[in-house]
Amino acid sequence: MAVRHAASLLLLGLLALLHTWGARAAVEVTMKDKVEAFLGDAAQITCMLTSDDGISGSGGMIIEWFYVKSSGYSQKIYHQESLHHTVEKNTPYTDRITVKNIGTSGEVVLTIRDVQLSDQMEFICHVKSLTDGTGEGRTQLRVFKTPDFPTIEGVKNGISVADPPSKIGSCEVKNGYPKPNITWYRDNMPLRNIPDVVDVEHTVTYESSGLFSVTSVLTMKVKKEDKNATFYCEARYLVPGTEKMTETEHINITVFYPPTAVNMLVDSPKGKIREGDTVELHCSSDGNSPSQEFTIKKDSQKLGETTAVLEKVTRLKSGVYECTVVDLDTYEELSTNTTVFVNYLDEAVIEPKETALVDQKKEFTASCNALSSLHTNTMWLKNGKEVSKGHHLSLKDVTYDHAGTYICVVTVPEIPGMQTNASLQVNVQGPPEITEKDFNEKETAEKDVELSCHVRGYPSPKITWTTSDGKVISSASQTKTEVGAKSVVKVKVTSDMTVFCNSSNDFGTDSVTYNIKATITKHTTTPATTTTTISTTSIAAANTIINTSTTTNAASPRSTVKAEIAKPSEKGKQGSNGVVIAVIIICILLLAILGSVLYFLYKKGKICNRSGKQDFTKEKSSKDKIMVEMKSDNTEEAILLGVNGEKQLPSDQ
Ligand SMILES: *[C@@H]1O[C@H](CO)[C@@H](O)[C@H](O)[C@H]1NC(C)=O
Ligand SMILES: *[C@@H]1O[C@H](CO)[C@@H](O)[C@H](O)[C@H]1NC(C)=O
Ligand SMILES: *[C@@H]1O[C@H](CO)[C@@H](O)[C@H](O)[C@H]1NC(C)=O
Ligand SMILES: *[C@@H]1O[C@H](CO)[C@@H](O)[C@H](O)[C@H]1NC(C)=O
Ligand SMILES: *[C@@H]1O[C@H](CO)[C@@H](O)[C@H](O)[C@H]1NC(C)=O
Ligand SMILES: *[C@@H]1O[C@H](CO)[C@@H](O)[C@H](O)[C@H]1NC(C)=O
Ligand SMILES: *[C@@H]1O[C@H](CO)[C@@H](O)[C@H](O)[C@H]1NC(C)=O
Repeated sequence: MAVRHAASLLLLGLLALLHTWGARAAVEVTMKDKVEAFLGDAAQITCMLTSDDGISGSGGMIIEWFYVKSSGYSQKIYHQESLHHTVEKNTPYTDRITVKNIGTSGEVVLTIRDVQLSDQMEFICHVKSLTDGTGEGRTQLRVFKTPDFPTIEGVKNGISVADPPSKIGSCEVKNGYPKPNITWYRDNMPLRNIPDVVDVEHTVTYESSGLFSVTSVLTMKVKKEDKNATFYCEARYLVPGTEKMTETEHINITVFYPPTAVNMLVDSPKGKIREGDTVELHCSSDGNSPSQEFTIKKDSQKLGETTAVLEKVTRLKSGVYECTVVDLDTYEELSTNTTVFVNYLDEAVIEPKETALVDQKKEFTASCNALSSLHTNTMWLKNGKEVSKGHHLSLKDVTYDHAGTYICVVTVPEIPGMQTNASLQVNVQGPPEITEKDFNEKETAEKDVELSCHVRGYPSPKITWTTSDGKVISSASQTKTEVGAKSVVKVKVTSDMTVFCNSSNDFGTDSVTYNIKATITKHTTTPATTTTTISTTSIAAANTIINTSTTTNAASPRSTVKAEIAKPSEKGKQGSNGVVIAVIIICILLLAILGSVLYFLYKKGKICNRSGKQDFTKEKSSKDKIMVEMKSDNTEEAILLGVNGEKQLPSDQ
């Protein structure tokens, strides 16, 4: 009995000893305060066990894992005893946890897969040792979700500096956890709320998913400088172990501001403005507000808003133009003045006007003036050539050469193309003076010859054409020229003829004689035919051409008329007809004498039979030809020539 009692006492003592040891060296549990994990990832919570006796490992311990509900009550999710372990049924973690004991190091790791927002709780690791008592550690699980990329949206409409604080834009950052923050920046400077100037308002939305979305609206009173400013938002959010930030894109805003200056531009086609130009006035300001009201006016008369078009301006449009701009937001008014000057050049006025009558050998002066707003140059032209410079035209010892049209041209050197001109007709008074005769050579079947006669003199001389027998050729056409008159007549020439151009005015007369010699080079059976051409000329007064009855000419349609003109003869105008007749008679007499001599010689038989027959045949081949020669100076000579010409035929025999 005593031994049994003693043995039980020893056991009690040993137990008591062991118990006191255990109370001194209980099991220790070490855990991190918090463990962080991204939503959907796996979280690992480590529970570290240590005991004083150096015995490590969980071999002989009971390990339990709990989570703390919001009510404060702990819910067991895992139990382990010796080699036996159980995952509690019907908890949110039944299918998502695993616990691993890492051998001798004394680490027990709880792994939670597919971490949810609801997992953000405190987890407890509870350890009970058979000998060392109990130990417990706690870890807070933190869950994170990176938010979507932040977005920004600026207001589309412009904002006036006169407006009260207006919305600039809004930023949004969606689906973050925990709640992200938004900060507004203006040109890299963060914006803080300033009463009546800057207001940033955040709205946090708690999504059904448990995530947070944040919207921030910036309201601001804009200044002119804000037109160049850029705005953006920065989203800041937490991730395991650190804080991150993301910027939105940068935006700018349209700022309307009132003008501080107004400017007017004068737009004319080229440089200086001249009468007749279309002038445009443009008004602008340095403001950009759409509520600006422009007015362009002159002498309180409104001409336009930002543009005034002055069509075909006259000098009366010269003056001060005013442009006014009113900003309807601020009612500030600004104005500017521009002076427009319309240059002018009046019509040139010549004194004396239009025509001037000047006596020969006298002096003459004229003046030309055109009123202009600018400096002018004046010159005088005659027949397109410059004859004088300056306002005055001065002619000394006037001759017919001075007669004609003078043009005074006034130009403005500063404005190319600006000019005016006027003309003056200078008539030089005096008797007619025949200056030139045109004698147009023609080759026609009709054998027409055109005669013309130019006469200087004033009053404009009267020109008449007459034939040698005193008949007036009425078909002549007379025109006035700058210096006198001109007359043209067409005559049909078939034989020698004489035509007079007579001119006269109040101061005297002048005349010129046209001697037209018709030389017929043609195959004829008798030389007598040619000699008759002179006498067979007749004039058809009623017709425009002189009609002749010469059969030889009428029968030669391919004949050629050749005509030439010589100097007019002043003398021998009268009696030239007589001379012609006398010469003709002499010629006929000579021919008769020649005929008699030839006959006499023939009778004597001293002459052989070489008549003109050979020549006749030779000439047959040549074309029918009429030579018309005109000599107006020496009538006798011309006629003699003609006679000689005719005589050549018989002389060849
Ligand atoms: C905006 O910027 C332009 C050129 O970058 C400058 O000329 C202008 O003065 C600026 N405006 C304001 C209001 O600052
Ligand atoms: C404002 O933004 C537009 C395009 O969004 C850009 O073309 C313009 O240059 C910007 N203005 C300023 C002053 O930054
Ligand atoms: C968001 O702002 C609040 C208040 O200023 C601050 O307490 C919090 O830490 C910020 N969060 C982040 C992610 O910066
Ligand atoms: C412009 O001219 C008008 C008179 O034509 C005058 O009343 C006004 O004061 C002037 N304005 C300026 C800005 O000179
Ligand atoms: C005279 O003026 C008219 C009309 O402007 C112009 O056509 C003409 O060429 C001028 N004549 C001269 C010689 O300048
Ligand atoms: C020529 O005169 C004839 C008769 O006199 C006449 O019939 C004919 O019309 C005249 N020819 C011309 C061209 O005058
Ligand atoms: C034309 O002038 C010529 C020569 O001077 C003269 O013979 C003739 O009579 C004058 N005729 C007239 C109609 O004056």
